[in-house]
Amino acid sequence: MKTLLLSAPLLTVALALPAIAAEKLTYYCSSQEDWCQLMADGFEAETGIKVSMTRKSSGETMAQIKAEADNPKGDIWWGGTGDPHLQAAEEGLTVAYESPMRGELNDWAIRQSESSGNKTIGIYSGALGYGYNEDILKDNNLPVPACWKDLLKPEYKGHVQMANPNSSGTAYTTLATIVQLFGEEEGFDFMKGLHKNINQYTKSGSAPIKAAARGENTIGIVFMHDAVKQAVSGFPIKVVAPCEGTGYEIGSMSLIKDSRNPENAKKFYDWALTAAVQSRSLEVNAFQVMSNKTAESSPSAPDLSTIKLIDYDFAKYGSSDERKRLLKKWDDEVSTLPR
Ligand code: F6P
Repeated sequence: MKTLLLSAPLLTVALALPAIAAEKLTYYCSSQEDWCQLMADGFEAETGIKVSMTRKSSGETMAQIKAEADNPKGDIWWGGTGDPHLQAAEEGLTVAYESPMRGELNDWAIRQSESSGNKTIGIYSGALGYGYNEDILKDNNLPVPACWKDLLKPEYKGHVQMANPNSSGTAYTTLATIVQLFGEEEGFDFMKGLHKNINQYTKSGSAPIKAAARGENTIGIVFMHDAVKQAVSGFPIKVVAPCEGTGYEIGSMSLIKDSRNPENAKKFYDWALTAAVQSRSLEVNAFQVMSNKTAESSPSAPDLSTIKLIDYDFAKYGSSDERKRLLKKWDDEVSTLPR
């Protein structure tokens, strides 16, 4: 009896705990791991809402949200290239939301939102390009590349790495950029020629330049900001804006349909669009251009106004049919070729 009486208060506390623990957020992140983590930790510290994070590449996250559509587990998808966010919007996997923060954002972020019926929004932008390890290039007596078409030179065989466009938004942006730059037929010929020089298709978009930084690869096709990150960290990486011109991303954020914590997801959404939070990207050397007009930027960040950017057709290349068609064509006609 004595034992029973003593444990009664403890029981009350235990029963009260689940109510406190209920404040949570399941957060899917498709940007670089350290930035994903900084966002999770920052939100948790400011709001007390417990964040559970999964980091996966853009195409992989899109596939996961689709696979979970009957029983959604995620609340918010932050980061990753815009194309799969647009596809998710079109397929009804995400929901419309008009944040009170919209007035603080650049036009390109709002255009991304409007083109999806407000189901996604731009959080950052960055240009595609490539980077190379200049020590490895010199050691192998390789020429310095400056254009997309330079990457087809036979002397680069085994020296080029990119991600798989099915899993990676970076690599899908590469495929869509090449098709827009050279036309579909010539673009696919380019991808087939490039395939001969590829040493590995990685899962994540930034992996090829991390490998180049470590001395395990020579040239990595990545977003230029990912190459700059390695250069400022002291690795012998040079960054190239290809001479023919290049595509770019509008990194995006979307609320997942029928999620379990929709109010917390909206809190995160509004918070992530503030200048203060976006400026924190510099703490992890994330050199994208932020969507909040007054967010800080670094002098090391690639200056998009000096890069020859194509008029990337987000509506077309972010549409479900076109993305599926191009990926299938790449799977059937490029990835199966011998190297
Ligand atoms: O590493 C950052 C980043 O390049 C983002 O700018 C981009 O949205 C994302 O990664 C794409 O990653 P992935 O190619 O792995 O989908």
